[in-house]
Amino acid sequence: MDRLSSAGLAGGMRHQVLVTGATGKSGRRVARRLREEGVAVRAAARGGEHFFDWTDRSTWDAALEGVQAVYIVPLDGTALVRPFVERAVRLGVRRVVLASGRGIDVPGYAKDAGGMLEGLVDGETAVRESGLEWTISRPGWFAQNFSEGFFADAVRAGELRLPGGAGAASFVDAEDIAAVVVAALTGGGHSGQVYELSGPRAVTLDEAAAAISEAAGRDVRYVPLSVEEYVAELVGQGWSPADAAAFADLIEPLREGKDEHVSDGVPRALGRPPRSFAEFAASTAAEGGWAV
Ligand SMILES: NC(=O)c1ccc[n+]([C@@H]2O[C@H](COP(=O)([O-])OP(=O)(O)OC[C@H]3O[C@@H](n4cnc5c(N)ncnc54)[C@H](OP(=O)(O)O)[C@@H]3O)[C@@H](O)[C@H]2O)c1
Repeated sequence: MDRLSSAGLAGGMRHQVLVTGATGKSGRRVARRLREEGVAVRAAARGGEHFFDWTDRSTWDAALEGVQAVYIVPLDGTALVRPFVERAVRLGVRRVVLASGRGIDVPGYAKDAGGMLEGLVDGETAVRESGLEWTISRPGWFAQNFSEGFFADAVRAGELRLPGGAGAASFVDAEDIAAVVVAALTGGGHSGQVYELSGPRAVTLDEAAAAISEAAGRDVRYVPLSVEEYVAELVGQGWSPADAAAFADLIEPLREGKDEHVSDGVPRALGRPPRSFAEFAASTAAEGGWAV
């Protein structure tokens, strides 16, 4: 039986879960959902309730001590998951759920100038080899990129200016990601599973803009740019040319339709279909997510 529960823990220890990236798109929702289930949470980030900095190893032990399970949101472009998991094993952690990404094991999926994909592959390997109970969450493009992430400012400005061509992606709602992560952190039957997570169907950037317009009650349109135009706009906003080019590379899989496919992770982990982009847009608008 691999359900983590207070009753099942040796010595009457309190069941506590460390959530890294706890101020981010997935971690914040994971922490909230765990608390709603009555689980004690250590919500860790540089700006979180519990101070934790991936780049300062002196903060690692205090984050890991006394917890039974950990949600790991890696620091992109690093290979820090491996030493962190080694520390977790030493400090008695039993279970890890790793935030990774769809496509990382697909040859030629994307250029990897920032070392992001390489870091995620190394993190997955480290978790698999750790001897801990492990689950890997591999979401595709987050729907919340439009409300909290890369595209949020453009949506608020009314023009989604991107080099996305006519590409589509099966955007996944971070609420579904969090629900899967919480199930894997606290429930049974998820050990050794790799959950690829998507929404129920592919959505083009035109369709995404239309869905947000309808939900938010104001005009948002998609303006397709060439890669060169996009990089020039980012540089004009103060980005370094190298960062702008690396970021444009991240959009290439979307433009090329490499993220159109639908994955079965949400139904497999939760026994229900994923939320649609329209549901994401409606709930985000209802919460004032695109208020200006
Ligand atoms: N966005 C997508 O569409 C997408 C798709 C697939 C996979 N992914 C992957 O998902 C992961 C991102 O997850 P997310 O979207 O939930 O996170 P996120 O919203 O990007 O937030 C990042 C989190 O990491 C924390 N953080 C940043 N630097 C840190 C540091 N030096 N030390 C400790 N914490 C640090 C941030 O908090 P503080 O700043 O307060 O420290 C924040 O809580 C990445 O690995 C990304 O590659 C993203």
